[in-house]
Amino acid sequence: MVSFSLCNPTDIRFGKGQIGALSELVVPDARVLLLYGGGSILKNGVEAQVRAALPGRQIVAFGGVEPNPVYETLQRGSARGRDAGVDLVLGVGGGSVIDAAKFLAAMIASGQDDPWDRFAAGDFPADTLPVGAVLTLAATGSESNPVSVITSLRRELKLPFRNERARPKFAILDPQTLASLSRKQQENGVVDAFTHVLEQYMTYPVNAPIQYGYSETLMQVLAEWGPRLLSDGPGPDGDKARENVMWAANQALNGLIAAGVPEDWSTHMIGHAITAVYGIDHARTLSAVMPALMRHELARKRQMLARLGRKVWGIVGDEDEAVAEAAIVATENFFSRMGCPIRPSDLVDAFDPEPVVSHLERAGQTALGEHGSIGPDAVRSILRAA
Ligand code: NZQ
Ligand code: ZN
Repeated sequence: MVSFSLCNPTDIRFGKGQIGALSELVVPDARVLLLYGGGSILKNGVEAQVRAALPGRQIVAFGGVEPNPVYETLQRGSARGRDAGVDLVLGVGGGSVIDAAKFLAAMIASGQDDPWDRFAAGDFPADTLPVGAVLTLAATGSESNPVSVITSLRRELKLPFRNERARPKFAILDPQTLASLSRKQQENGVVDAFTHVLEQYMTYPVNAPIQYGYSETLMQVLAEWGPRLLSDGPGPDGDKARENVMWAANQALNGLIAAGVPEDWSTHMIGHAITAVYGIDHARTLSAVMPALMRHELARKRQMLARLGRKVWGIVGDEDEAVAEAAIVATENFFSRMGCPIRPSDLVDAFDPEPVVSHLERAGQTALGEHGSIGPDAVRSILRAA
């Protein structure tokens, strides 16, 4: 096993009606920056539930956080929060809003209008404000991890920032909030969570039977309940699907299955670059890149791909090579079943890898993967794969 430290102190409140727990989680004299996105929480009643659970608190609302949150918007949010003297940032929404809440908590504390370069160098304020999360889209795991993925339009960059101090103090996961998601967002969420497991699982084998076994369970649950999330609709069956997918997505990226194992994340870095250049939904970039990346890396990932084939997809066979190839096809079939593209050329007409490679170079992401072996030429050939 690779040596590790593991500490995830996020207080998770899971289940129907848990938004009410805000009254206990947020102190009575708190000054709360309530951060939200394009308005889904105003339409589906989540904002009303949040406000009802916070009587007497001073609430300053800041909406308009975009999917793939934009730094320049957060600069305005930061000024607003600082002027109001807020002492808690509460993100209510999907991964974008929660990522933005974590980033804003550091921005407000920094006292700086433009701390991008400082944060990109990993220098975050010691007094980063506390963050809380009310999750409305199961996908990213952002609600209990320390990462924010933020896009600067001026710099034409989408980068991950890791600030342990911004990891949410609490996260409310009420599966009922997922009921208003569009089919496309449900598809995206399941595929994103599934690829998170693969980024931490599909590398080279080490002595980690606990991590691998739990990862396989998470993938089996997403493979079974993801399609049911799309088909079961309102009612008790849909409720079960919402519960299982919401919990799986959280467990897929909260640090647990990464402990003690090598990690890849090359699909994600390439995917972030594609979103920055072409504006494509995060999950769809992943499903389009990952199969070609698996084929490119087949020799290095053969053993774990074969294990994925046997344990998750039920493929029978003695030859690792053949089982590994069948596992890639089975993974593609799952992504297709979840309505997501499986080739870069499916993403946009006349897809051009060059601006994507240029983004990776400007982001300093030129030695990707668990071996640091995926450089610009490898990315070009992955993205040109038909
Ligand atoms: O903005 P609103 O109006 O809220 O609408 C959102 C948005 O349009 C809507 N939505 C969310 N909950 C809803 C809802 N609509 C109806 N009912 C609800 N209950 O869904 C749309 C997409 O939301 P977004 O938050 O962008 O989606 P997601 O949760 O997939 O987050 C994607 C972002 O997270 C980053 C991605 O790069 C991307 O920027 N990631 C963050 C990670 C992390 N922090 O660890 C890891 C991930 O790999 C990922 O990179
Ligand atoms: Zn992701």
